[in-house]
Amino acid sequence: MEFKTPKILIDDQSLKVRVSELARDITRDYAGRNIVVIAVLKGSFLFLADLVRQIDLHCYVEFLEVQSYDGGLKSRGVVKMTKDLTYPIAGMDILIVEDIIETGLTLDYLKRNLKTRNPKSVKICVLLNKEEKRKVDIAVDYSGFKIDDKFVVGYGLDYMGYYRNLKYVGYFEDII
Ligand code: IMP
Ligand code: MG
Repeated sequence: MEFKTPKILIDDQSLKVRVSELARDITRDYAGRNIVVIAVLKGSFLFLADLVRQIDLHCYVEFLEVQSYDGGLKSRGVVKMTKDLTYPIAGMDILIVEDIIETGLTLDYLKRNLKTRNPKSVKICVLLNKEEKRKVDIAVDYSGFKIDDKFVVGYGLDYMGYYRNLKYVGYFEDII
């Protein structure tokens, strides 16, 4: 695989500022409640780490993994859960934390799946939002940045498993 340096779309300072704002909104909206933060692996791991450190609530952190991409640039449109939660979530306030929403198929599938387990509530928090690519109507409760239809990497997001460790969100000029 040939490695290139992505162009910066969102720098690390802007990410810090926006993640703090999201954490502040979440803290305000759930004041006095405990939440179960469910991070969608792998792409959300850095966003999750920065977000939860600024949420001033008692957070129970859980992970699950879904796959809809084949590792490359295009969603297969078929979502499968490759790692499930460890504990039941009945009666809990759930916040799903995801790196990016594009068609919405992943989060639609996840929200439906989690709702069958009778949580008290399920909300969605995404860092990046490609609104123009949406195929299903789904409410995004907390959205960091609206971005154009570009394939992005960094700050958790990958191309073929790489680039997740970049401090910024970037894109490749020759790939759309
Ligand atoms: P959706 O199901 O179409 O909303 O796609 C969501 C999933 O596709 C995300 O969880 C990411 O894993 C992946 N994804 C979508 N766009 C990008 C991108 O630009 N870069 C890297 N991964 C992406
Ligand atoms: Mg993902």
